Amino acid sequence: MSISLAACNTEKPAGVPVQLEDCQRVKLFQPYAQKSVELHNRIVVSPMCMYSCQNGFLNQFHVMHYGSFAFKGAGAVIIEATAVVPEGRISPNDSGIWSDDHIEPLSHVVNIIKSQGSVPGLQIAHAGRKASMSPPFKGDYIESEENGGWPNRVMGPSEIPFADHYPRPNVMTKADIQATIKAFADAAVRADKAGIEILEIHAAHGYLLHNFYSGNSNKRTDEYGGSFQNRIRLTLEVAKAVRAVWPEHKPLWTRISCTDYVNPDPMGSDPDGWSIDQSIELAKQLKQVGVDLIDCSSGGNIKGVQYPNQPLYQVPFAEAIRRQAQIATGAVGLIVEGEDAEKILQEEKADVVLVAREFLRNSTFALSAAQALDVNINWPKQYSWAVKKARRHNTTADEKTAQK
Ligand SMILES: Cc1cc2nc3c(=O)[nH]c(=O)nc-3n(C[C@H](O)[C@H](O)[C@H](O)COP(=O)(O)O)c2cc1C
Repeated sequence: MSISLAACNTEKPAGVPVQLEDCQRVKLFQPYAQKSVELHNRIVVSPMCMYSCQNGFLNQFHVMHYGSFAFKGAGAVIIEATAVVPEGRISPNDSGIWSDDHIEPLSHVVNIIKSQGSVPGLQIAHAGRKASMSPPFKGDYIESEENGGWPNRVMGPSEIPFADHYPRPNVMTKADIQATIKAFADAAVRADKAGIEILEIHAAHGYLLHNFYSGNSNKRTDEYGGSFQNRIRLTLEVAKAVRAVWPEHKPLWTRISCTDYVNPDPMGSDPDGWSIDQSIELAKQLKQVGVDLIDCSSGGNIKGVQYPNQPLYQVPFAEAIRRQAQIATGAVGLIVEGEDAEKILQEEKADVVLVAREFLRNSTFALSAAQALDVNINWPKQYSWAVKKARRHNTTADEKTAQK
């Protein structure tokens, strides 16, 4: 289905300050340019699996879901973890991009995001040893073959399951590794064809690439295990292969987990496992192979560790990587207030902020953040003329017209 010009908001997207002074004063609402892509503000919808696909195909649900964030002012919308091979899905209902047939449904989601003046991103992923599980809203169990799962074809660096109730992974051969690298590159080509502008490699949360770079889950003795350089080899090879086919003018991001929390001090070291010092070194090497931004998350690889649970808990990772690896970073994790998002940017701890659950609670997060920061913001034209109090103590030009 096409999008009528009358429905587009490309000329005047929501989420852009009305006055130039606000744009200068408030960093959250300044544009952010990387390569040929410009976000109209620095609020990014973090990738979130919706477990609502059949055979990996996005559908009208996703057009509605992702379109709503773009319509309501987010600078970019990163579409959920999208598997590069069927066995790389977390659940049978994950999004996928392992065939050319996935391009067209993805392009519908891309088009709705672009039609609202926002930037479409896609996270490409392989779930590694956490594959073939149920969608979380159904429970926390292995999906059997009868239910569309593949518990005997789950893969990882070593034969160590994530937890007792997870599948036992098959140890990947060199051929499996090479096929996986190629699958990531093929996915990047398809994402480009669908019109995606930012591509993010998912190397976090205990999925395949994280399984390899952490010594807590990788016990291999070949060139993909053991030393730090061996453990990060697969992530680097994937990034290199993707960069080789992903257009030079489009940004490539990578999400990493900055620590496994085996050392309970988030900034502490875990030399044979995974910790922030190693993440900084990985970020430096990812930068060298052409990654443009590190999206700084944490955890997900080891069951039973303690997580800090306070607002902004992952921001110190974004700050450390930005300063020490000299690469742009995204901060994510319990960022729920506009003021906090702005402070992160003002203090130069990150270049963009990614927000996940707050967007689920409040799809107008970008517009609410503007209100909290006293920024007079564009609302989408379809709503702005009718909404009397887009900014409570001010009446926009559109509102004055509506009052006549
Ligand atoms: C429903 C849901 C699905 C998620 N799916 C993904 C995903 O596909 N890829 C990913 O990297 N992170 C995923 N996450 C993690 C979020 O992107 C984000 O990093 C995390 O929720 C912390 O941010 P928040 O406090 O703003 O929610 C998901 C989170 C939620 C709540």
